[in-house]
Amino acid sequence: MPSFVIRVSSLPGGVGKSVIAINLAIALASLGKRVLLIDTDAVSPSISSYLNVTAKKTYYDILVNKVPPKDAVIRYKPGNIDLILSEPFPIAYKLSKTQVETAGKEGLKLGYDFIVADTPKGIFFPVAAELYSTALVVSTPFYNSIMNNFELHKWYRKSKIRCNFVLNKFGRSANQMSKKDIEAKTGEKILAVIPEDLGVELSIFKKKPAFLINRNSKFSMSILRLAKSLLKLSKAQEK
Ligand SMILES: Nc1ncnc2c1ncn2[C@@H]1O[C@H](COP(=O)(O)OP(=O)(O)OP(=O)(O)O)[C@@H](O)[C@H]1O
Ligand SMILES: [Mg+2]
Repeated sequence: MPSFVIRVSSLPGGVGKSVIAINLAIALASLGKRVLLIDTDAVSPSISSYLNVTAKKTYYDILVNKVPPKDAVIRYKPGNIDLILSEPFPIAYKLSKTQVETAGKEGLKLGYDFIVADTPKGIFFPVAAELYSTALVVSTPFYNSIMNNFELHKWYRKSKIRCNFVLNKFGRSANQMSKKDIEAKTGEKILAVIPEDLGVELSIFKKKPAFLINRNSKFSMSILRLAKSLLKLSKAQEK
């Protein structure tokens, strides 16, 4: 069975891509799946610091030094997942699509059920469309974030990449848009709503994913629901 590859993305930064990628990967593993989480953010990588882990080889070595992806994989035992970490590299903008494609195709041979790719904000980094089974467009529920991310959504559609909206940091602020309003404004269905949760900030401080700190929090339960939706999507796309 081919790997189901999920691109976690957004146009504006700081919306929660890395937090969602980490917790989603662990939730998929908790459902019995073999999962690789890869940090492809060469602008502002966070997985290494969020999980307090380091690796001898990184995404940089795979792309630039042609290190085989399997040699950059490390195990993250608490989450029962494998990881490939990134490091900031200034030449990221100069990489070619072919470099990303070649490395991606090698990665697909590793036999994971799911590959979750955390990505840099924006779309300036070369995107090898055919590598992705689906993209998640992560947005906060505020007008500006929604409208910016809607542009990314349209770009995915043009590039023939399947994509789904995920709302993050959904809270009680009076200025935020409701799920219904967003769906009406964009004409797109929202795949998941992840609540704002103070435990997430604490989890970053503790360097332990929120999903592993409390599986019964609303945050963890919404991440698990997202994982189950993606599992369903992967089965539907297999057919
Ligand atoms: N559901 C949530 N509830 C509360 N805080 C959250 C939630 N999701 C993310 N955060 C907080 O938002 C901040 C940004 O999160 P994160 O680093 O995942 O964003 P990002 O989109 O990956 O950012 P960048 O664009 O820089 O890569 C972090 O401080 C994180 O703790
Ligand atoms: Mg990030």
